[in-house]
This record gives sequence, structure tokens and C-alpha cells, in this order.
Amino acid sequence: MNDHEVNVGILGLGTVGTGVAKILLTQSGLLKTRSDLNFKLKAIAEINWNVKRDLNLDGIQCLTDAKQLIADPEIDIVVETIGGYEPAFSFISEALCNRKHVVTANKALIATRGRELFKIAKENGVGLLFEASVGGGIPIIKGLREGLVANKIESIYGILNGTSNYILTRMHQDGLEFEEALKEAQVKGFAEADPTLDVGGGDAAHKLTILGSLATSSTLDFDSLYVEGITPITKLDINFAKSFGFTIKLLAIFRALENGLDLRVHPTLIPNTHLLAAVNNELNAIFVKGDFVGNTMFYGPGAGERPTGSAIVSDIVDLSKGLLLKEGEPSSYLSIDPERRMELAPINAIKNRFYLRFFTYDKPGVLSKISGILGERGISISSMVQLETHEKDNYVPIVLLTHKASEEAMEEALREIDQFDFVKDKGLRLRLF
Ligand SMILES: NC(=O)c1ccc[n+]([C@@H]2O[C@H](COP(=O)([O-])OP(=O)(O)OC[C@H]3O[C@@H](n4cnc5c(N)ncnc54)[C@H](OP(=O)(O)O)[C@@H]3O)[C@@H](O)[C@H]2O)c1
Repeated sequence: MNDHEVNVGILGLGTVGTGVAKILLTQSGLLKTRSDLNFKLKAIAEINWNVKRDLNLDGIQCLTDAKQLIADPEIDIVVETIGGYEPAFSFISEALCNRKHVVTANKALIATRGRELFKIAKENGVGLLFEASVGGGIPIIKGLREGLVANKIESIYGILNGTSNYILTRMHQDGLEFEEALKEAQVKGFAEADPTLDVGGGDAAHKLTILGSLATSSTLDFDSLYVEGITPITKLDINFAKSFGFTIKLLAIFRALENGLDLRVHPTLIPNTHLLAAVNNELNAIFVKGDFVGNTMFYGPGAGERPTGSAIVSDIVDLSKGLLLKEGEPSSYLSIDPERRMELAPINAIKNRFYLRFFTYDKPGVLSKISGILGERGISISSMVQLETHEKDNYVPIVLLTHKASEEAMEEALREIDQFDFVKDKGLRLRLF
């Protein structure tokens, strides 16, 4: 039996911080049995103590100044659940410099400034773990870091944003338009008042940067990712996708190609027969292919107080094992090498199958002009649907599915097609799985 006590401090007692506190306060016996360590929630720093919380904080230091917690020599592990870039970055780096291990759920920070933070952690011989930053309660980081350590990761396909997945599910299952589904998601608490980061693809891109970094043991440049969100998708597109046997999902894609890495986030038509097409509502799933294991899928709740708290506590237990090492004994917390950089393949060279939707004036010759432009660039059509118009303005939707073509060829073709006077607005281009 071990009597070692691990003192934990939490910065920010919001949704995630509260989940962590609840687990540390109620599951200490279970954690002791499984790790042979005693975990003690010693202090919490929170700027707003006026919020009513369902927690008994007797015996815990309740602070308003995060720096006081970070400076406390008795705290072994600091949990950062404030979110955002600053002061979170300064707090984490200060804690690491004070030789404390840090656990964070902050995907935006890890994706954009992880390189700097991992360096500071390495220099100070401490760990910085981030299981909760991707997939909430799903142990995907540990899955990649440990379970699949023997594999070269060939591809990752992830449904990583619960808000977008909830909206797309409502559009598919209840025939809602995007705006109606978004409002419903906001009422149910699945979407923020400002949903830009979720529906615009930025949040999934943060998470993809982290998964790509783990898959390649390097740090990737978040700004280089190709990102499209779900806002242009209409009920009409959902119905067309359904008629072709597809479900539209916001997909985060990682592929290790010969000429570099392919990292993209965009709405994707997934065949209804694929497991990812059945991942609905606010749930997340990550489909990973390793060269030895083959295909694997991780599935579960991607957010929320309890699942995210569960992920953070797994990191706390992981890091606490390092506290038992004797001074000078080597420890290894790093699965990402901050000095190692990987190049992304240029998006133009990537080949995809496409879904194209145009509104065109209902007159003869329109289709042959569109297919002519596509044909000039070697893009061949695999299926096509044209609806009859009942609308006063006489514009009809035309939808085409193509065989594989390069992104560059498609970009050029769309630029030309959008110039035709019979094309209303801009055409919509989605990719097929
Ligand atoms: N919510 C989820 O399900 C989820 C899932 C995965 C990852 N995450 C990530 O987890 C992090 C936290 O998210 P959350 O949803 O828990 O956010 P949240 O509910 O807004 O909690 C953040 C808490 O930190 C407090 N705070 C702000 N500045 C502070 C400071 N300087 N010192 C101490 N406390 C401070 C906030 O107080 P005020 O409210 O007064 O500002 C709030 O109580 C984010 O990085 C997020 O991306 C969240």
C-alpha cells in the first residue's frame, strides 16, 4: 500500500472544472484502488464564486487568484479548465515552470500554442496532458498514444464537433433547415450563443490538429488546415444526399500521403453503410486506421461536465505515477515532439469525389454547358438529378456527383460555371467520403 498523497488544484470551476471536482470528491476510493494513490482536491481558483454549484467544498481552499494556486508548493498537479488563450497560456506555462504537472481540456490553446507549451514542459521535466481536448470522454488520445503505439497511423476520420453533428442530425431526421436546427441546439444547450467556432469548423480543426500531431508525434500548424463549416448546407442538400444513399457529416480528416499529410475539415457525404453515418446527435466518433491493427472506431460523448471530467481525471492519474519516481529517474510524458515538424500536402493536389449543387435558369442547354466545363478539366459525372421548377423565378436545382478529380481542377471549373448568367448565386461543392 502506498500513502503518497497527490494534491490537485483546479483553475476555473465552470462546466468541466465542476466535473473534475465531483469525481475527485466522490471517487477517491475507486481511484485509490486502481492507482494505489490518494488524490486530494486541495484548492480551486475561480473568479466568480456567486454561481450556485452542486458541490460540497468544505476543507478545500477556494481562491479567486489563480496565481496563488500556481505558486502553492504543495500542489502537484494543476488542472486548467478556464479555456481561451489568455490568461490560460500564462497560467499553464507558469505552473510548468514551477515544475507542476498540468492537465488541460483547452483544445484551442493546445492546437495553436501547443509547441511552446510542450517545450516548456520538456525543459522542466514535467507533463502536460490533454485527453479532454478531443472527443470529451472518449479515450482517443490515450488510444493513439498507448493502445496504437505500435502502428503507423494511416488515416483518421472524426466526427469531432457535437454541435454540428446535432444540427445535421436534426436536419436529416426531422427535415429542419440549418437555422431552425441551430436554434433548437442553442435551446437544448448543445450550441453556444456564438456558434461560429462550432458550425464554421474551427473547433473540429483544433481537435484535428491535436490528433494529427499525435498520429505523427510532431506539431502541426493549425493555420495550414483546410476548413469549411456546415452553414451553406440546406434541407435540399440533405434530401439529395439521402436520395443518393449518403448522410452529410462534418468530418475531420487526417491521411498520411506520400507527398505529405492531408488534413481537412469539411462537410462530407458518407455512405449510409459506413459506421460513421450512424453517429448521431451530439455524439462523437473517431475512425482510426493503423498499419498493423487495421480499422478501429472510438465512440461516445464528446462534451459535458461528467464525460470531460472523466477524461481529465484519467490524465491526473497518469501524471501522478511520475510523482512516485525518485529524483533523477527518467520519466516520459511526451508523445508529441515539439521540435519535429511535418508538412501538409497542398490541398490542390488532393483528389476527391464531389457533390455539386447549382440553381440554374430552367432553359435548354444548361446541363451540357456545365458538363462541358467539367469535361474540359477531366472531371467526369457519375450521377445527376435535375428537379422541375414550381418557383416563380424559374430557377431549378441541379445536383451532380462526380468521379475523383483534383481539388485544383474542381476549383477552376466552379469559377467558370459560376460566371454563367444562367447560374444563380454560387454553386455548392461538397466532398464524398
Ligand atoms: N464544456 C465542455 O463540455 C468541454 C468539453 C471539452 C473541452 N472543453 C474545454 O474545457 C475548457 C473549459 O470549458 P468550460 O465549458 O468548462 O468553460 P466554462 O464553463 O466557461 O468554465 C470556465 C470557468 O473559468 C472561470 N474563469 C475565467 N477566468 C478565470 C480566471 N482568470 N481565474 C479563474 N477562473 C476563471 C469562469 O468564470 P466566469 O464564468 O465568471 O468567466 C468559469 O467559471 C475550455 O477550454 C473548453 O474548450 C469543454
